[in-house]
Amino acid sequence: MSVAKFSIEIDEFKSIEELDAADVKLLQLAQKIAENAYAPYSNFYVGAVAMLNNNQIITGTNQENASYPVGTCAERVLLAIAATSFPNIPLKTMAISYLNKNGLNNHPISPCGMCRQYLLEYEQRVKQPIRLILGGQVGKVYIIKSVADLLPLNFSADDFKK
Ligand code: THU
Repeated sequence: MSVAKFSIEIDEFKSIEELDAADVKLLQLAQKIAENAYAPYSNFYVGAVAMLNNNQIITGTNQENASYPVGTCAERVLLAIAATSFPNIPLKTMAISYLNKNGLNNHPISPCGMCRQYLLEYEQRVKQPIRLILGGQVGKVYIIKSVADLLPLNFSADDFKK
């Protein structure tokens, strides 16, 4: 028997001020666009902003529903827009932020499990890792090189191979 260990590297910044100008722009837009979410049930407004390989910027916000499971996270709204309007153009970077109207806004949030799976397939399908910038309205910021880092031992299309 041997022990398999998985570890990930996250770049941690004390605040948005430590980021490169291009990353500041994406995170600030994610902080702002979160206001456009439809989140009357959770009051947790999430904004996602991506820079594509062609430098196009696209956005997504969470869209909730009175029938709760129908709601969709900001990340998957964004990816559906990317796939529809810019098919096969990889995403260089995605910034994710939020506005928690009931509580704290001072720490990064990380995509939920369902979004990690969806993001992973997107980066595999267009053959380029998506770099993630995660931050609240204030406070520390994380940068992660690839969605795959967030989903070790993942299940993917590769597992269908004969
Ligand atoms: N949510 C997102 O949109 N993205 C995340 O990364 C975490 C959670 C949404 C789903 C729901 O509308 C609200 O935040 C509270 O869970």
